[in-house]
Amino acid sequence: MGKYELRLLALAARGHIVPDRSLLKTPEQIRAIKKSAALNTAVLDHVASHIRPGMCTEEIDRLVYDFTTRHGGIPAPLNYDGFPKSVCTSINDVICHGIPNENEILMEGDIVNVDVSTILNGYFSDASRMFLMGDVSPRAARLVRVTQECVDRGLSVAKPWGHLGDIAHAINTHAKRNGYSVVEDIGGHGIGLEFHEEPFVSYVTPKGSEMVLVPGMMFTIEPMVNEGGPDFFVDEDDGWTVYTEDGGLSAQIEYMVLVTETGVEVLSR
Ligand code: MF3
Ligand code: CO
Repeated sequence: MGKYELRLLALAARGHIVPDRSLLKTPEQIRAIKKSAALNTAVLDHVASHIRPGMCTEEIDRLVYDFTTRHGGIPAPLNYDGFPKSVCTSINDVICHGIPNENEILMEGDIVNVDVSTILNGYFSDASRMFLMGDVSPRAARLVRVTQECVDRGLSVAKPWGHLGDIAHAINTHAKRNGYSVVEDIGGHGIGLEFHEEPFVSYVTPKGSEMVLVPGMMFTIEPMVNEGGPDFFVDEDDGWTVYTEDGGLSAQIEYMVLVTETGVEVLSR
């Protein structure tokens, strides 16, 4: 019987959503996934030191592919469900899943999300950052700052035996307080042994709802914050790029976290 089995059974009996035991990583798995996550963070650091206005997003793809493979990893997005590139690059009104392209040039004033996911020795990791291209408008800078604050607030309320909804509530409340909206139908996910595991992680659910956080669980905190409404559409031609319906700016920051016995540890950011 697992360490937490009786506690989990009691919670389930009281109507709480509890994780399937396969979602609780073993110490060996955690060690291996941490190595993948460390490489994932290093890839993002590599992007951070090279990204600049005038660069095309294809160049970011090349940076990610070359750095990852040179360090023994595989970019997880490449060929994932037919995704054609090694990284997602999402500029301004693109919410997520932008596809790098040699004809897409980063312009002064752009805000761009670079979402990096790595497979190392079969273990998965995932994180994303926002980059400001030169001097951006106060409006864009505020959106990115508040998105970071949303992630920080989500992280600060995440604790073992709490609920995913606690994180969502903290994030959504802060976004709304600033006049923003959080995308509803796209969210975070469990991660580690696969790219996308259970649970789906919403950032709009109420406090005390959704899955109980149990030590050994790993998932992403990755709210998509829109300056306008939360609605979106997917590019019909490429089948991937997600745009805000109203053309407003969108920002996203993604942390990959592990629930421990005492709190939550950020594995990649
Ligand atoms: N990295 C994204 C996430 O956070 C997933 C991108 S799927 C891809 O879930 F195929 F577009 F890479
Ligand atoms: Co991601």
